[in-house]
Amino acid sequence: MRERLEALCGEGLAAIAAAESRAQLAEIESSFLGRTGALTAQLKGLGKLEAAERPAIGKLANEIKQKLQQAFDAVGETLKQEELAADLASVGVDCSLPGPTVELGSVHPVMAIARELEDIFQSMGFVIWDGPELESEANNFDALNIPSDHPARESHDTIWMKSADEEPRRCLRTHTSPVQVRALREFGAPLRVIAPGRVFRQEAQDATHEHTFHQMEGLVVGKNIGVPHMLHAMNSMLEGVFKRKLETRLRPGFFPFVEPGFELDARCPFCKGGCKVCKGSTWIELMPGGLVHPNVLTAAGVDPNEYSGFAFGLGLSRMAMLRYGIHDIRYMCSGDLRFLKQFKA
Ligand code: DAH
Repeated sequence: MRERLEALCGEGLAAIAAAESRAQLAEIESSFLGRTGALTAQLKGLGKLEAAERPAIGKLANEIKQKLQQAFDAVGETLKQEELAADLASVGVDCSLPGPTVELGSVHPVMAIARELEDIFQSMGFVIWDGPELESEANNFDALNIPSDHPARESHDTIWMKSADEEPRRCLRTHTSPVQVRALREFGAPLRVIAPGRVFRQEAQDATHEHTFHQMEGLVVGKNIGVPHMLHAMNSMLEGVFKRKLETRLRPGFFPFVEPGFELDARCPFCKGGCKVCKGSTWIELMPGGLVHPNVLTAAGVDPNEYSGFAFGLGLSRMAMLRYGIHDIRYMCSGDLRFLKQFKA
């Protein structure tokens, strides 16, 4: 029986190799492995063998069956490809030509830093909230304690929409701070929220000024919230981004919607004794912030006698520049693929 099995194996492999079509291959398969196939017949005969012979012959028969099955599958696949190619060729398609290349995009550096910061702030219990880029004058300015005669409006020159007299005036928002008001009106106090987004200004463009850029607003309102809470949140955020503790300092800064207001500087993470990034000073200006002005809380429907809070305005474009060593903000919205392709993420 051993000889018969080995002969069948040889015959089978030769027949498979000679098959010219899938139909022919299917016939060969059934003549060996089908219900009445030659190998199947041998397998059925195993029971009649002497008990001592049975295990070795049985093993051999199964090995041959497997070998033939693998050969059927492999040749079947090749014939399938060939038949498909022939079909396509008959209608004029050459499948040996390269297909259209699908280019993989990459994550914009501002989005990459935004996602990273969102993770960090979410881990500190902040929610992420969004506001419209076309914002009402009331939210962008008045509710933030910047009335129409306030000199701070000067540095927030922007594009205004035409509107009928009775409609509220709207503009391209000049900062993400109006989302403070929106989020407080939506959720009330206590609240921890960040609001990343795109903002617009009338700017003379240069390497650090652009008419369109990105910010991330932060706001925490609760009972007895003060400057130490703000410092702690800012330092934790910096540690998350730069993966180590950075020395920081607060300087006084003026923004109508906070009192007191600050500028947070961090010890330059790129040098020890001064470099281009910190302009030789070893400090870099990172973000403004302060304690939310009572007028802002009131405008957002929160009682300033019960609640206090802090807010900060993180320059996302600036953070991305620091993080990735980008020396000109104008690349950010340029749409230049040579720039964007460098940020595979
Ligand atoms: N909105 C300000 C700007 O764009 C930045 C800012 C300053 C935001 C202080 C704040 C803050 O939340 O507390 O110039």
